Formats: sequence, C-alpha cells, structure tokens
Amino acid sequence: MPATLFEHSDRVALITGGASGIGLATAQRLIEAGIGGLILVDQDEVGLRLAAQILSLSPELLLCRAHDVADEAAWELTRQAIQEDFGRLDYAVVNAGIADGGAIVDYPLAAWRRVMSANLDGAFLTLQNSLQLIADAGRGGAIVVVASAAALKAESGTAAYAASKAGVAQLARVAAREGAANGIRVNTVLPGGVKTPIWRAVPFFRELVEQEGSEEAAFEAMAALATPLGRYATAEEVARQIALLLADDAATMTGAAVALDGGYSL
Ligand code: NAI
Repeated sequence: MPATLFEHSDRVALITGGASGIGLATAQRLIEAGIGGLILVDQDEVGLRLAAQILSLSPELLLCRAHDVADEAAWELTRQAIQEDFGRLDYAVVNAGIADGGAIVDYPLAAWRRVMSANLDGAFLTLQNSLQLIADAGRGGAIVVVASAAALKAESGTAAYAASKAGVAQLARVAAREGAANGIRVNTVLPGGVKTPIWRAVPFFRELVEQEGSEEAAFEAMAALATPLGRYATAEEVARQIALLLADDAATMTGAAVALDGGYSL
C-alpha cells in the first residue's frame, strides 16, 4: 500500500461530527493519508476548538463550522464558506450522530424526533450539500456514510437509533445511484461497538459503568456479550477503514454497506 492514500495533495474532505470519536480520528487519518484540506462540522463549538488544536493544521487548510447538521440555513452558509475557502470538495464523511435508548412502549415522541433530526435529517442535508459541492468541482469524489450495525440487528431498546441508522443506510444507497453520474461513490460503514463518548448517553451503558467500575471494563463486558471477535473497535480503526473506502483503491465500490462490527451482526 502506498504511504499516502490520496495521490493528489489538493483534495479536500468534509467530516461531520469531527470534534470527537470516529470523526476526529478520521480527520487525523486523512491528514496522515495526504489530504490537502479539511472542513469539520460539529455542533460542539468547544470540541471543535480542541480538535483544531489536536490536528494542528495550518489555518488555511482547516475550516471549522459549529452548527447542528440538521440546520438547513446553517448549511447554506457552510457551503458558501467551503466555496470561498477551498473552491471545491472531493470527499465527505457523513458521521455526526447521537445515540439514545428506550423501549418503544414508553419512548417519548420528542426523543424519537431528536434522534431522527441528528441522525437522519442531518445526514440528508450533509449528503445534499456534499453531492452538490463535489459535482460542482467536476472531478468526481467519494462519500462514506457512518450508519451502525444497529441497522442490521434488532436489539430491545434501540428503536429510534436503529431505525435512524437503517434509514441512513438506505439513503446512502440512493445517493450512490444519484451520485454515479457525477463520478461520486457513496458507501456505508456499519460499525458495531466503538469505544467513544457517544455511549455515555445510553442508560444501559451508564449502569454497566457503575457495575463494572470503569468505561473500559464496561466496553469489555459488552463486547464479551455479543461480539464474536470479543472486542470493540477503537475510533482509529474505524477511521482507517473509512479512509480506505474514500481512496481511489476503492474505485469501483459504490452503494456497498460494510459491517465493521467484529461479527456482531452475524
Ligand atoms: P461521538 O459522540 O464521539 O461523536 C459524535 C460527534 O457528533 C460529536 O462531536 C457531536 O457533537 C457531533 N454531533 C452529534 N449530533 C450532532 C448534530 N446534530 N449536529 C452536529 N454535530 C453533532 O460519537 P462517535 O461514536 O464518534 O459517533 C460517530 C458516528 O458513529 C455516529 O453517527 C454514531 O451513530 C456512529 N456509530 C458509533 C458507534 C459506537 O459504538 N461509538 C457504533 C456505530 C455507529
């Protein structure tokens, strides 16, 4: 494998949810792999500032936009800023998302809508803007959508999250069809457990941390329950797999949905 995944150092990538976890690790991986410019979109403004420090790219190579991915008006401004700062886009990682848990019978509609807004409306708007920007640049590109193994396997208490992720996986397949005419590949990754802060919002995980004494021990206990490989992934591992799908080595892969779940969905 070549040292750099991206042969042209002027390539520009957008990552949503870039302030934490898989998004931040993907930003780091793309820099190592030779990306020329990065746009991070995240609603966590403080997190974005910390991410910029960690990435330590020169300011003209990094654009940070703090807004909700489900905010249509904010996307309009972000699209203009990308045009002004970089003049084009080549890659996008549709990654921002939230987790939540609760049984259908007593799950509030407001909570359902909150999950759908971040995970599905947000992905739709990210795809809409990315497909347009990449098409405008006129030289093709690639998009990776971060869904979840929850889209494949039904577990009690995951209704809103699982439905949003199944929806986004199918949205990506339609985007692959529509993007093909402009040379844009769209693939989906379906991670199983990944050790990131997203789990802190899940009541079951919080209880397990209390029971096991630490987050690391809780991750180990969950992986032992249902993951054949017996461990969860790190954000860095998922980031490397996302980068591979973006790179030209995956030139004829589009519309694929790849489980990165240690066998959890088997
Ligand atoms: P994380 O919580 O570390 O990072 C998610 C980032 O998205 C945060 O920085 C957060 O501020 C941002 N975000 C959330 N909602 C947003 C919104 N509406 N607008 C703008 N930014 C928003 O979590 P992680 O694990 O890195 O999650 C990334 C993606 O991976 C999510 O879509 C998640 O569903 C997916 N995933 C994660 C798994 C895991 O076990 N950690 C497993 C399968 C999928």
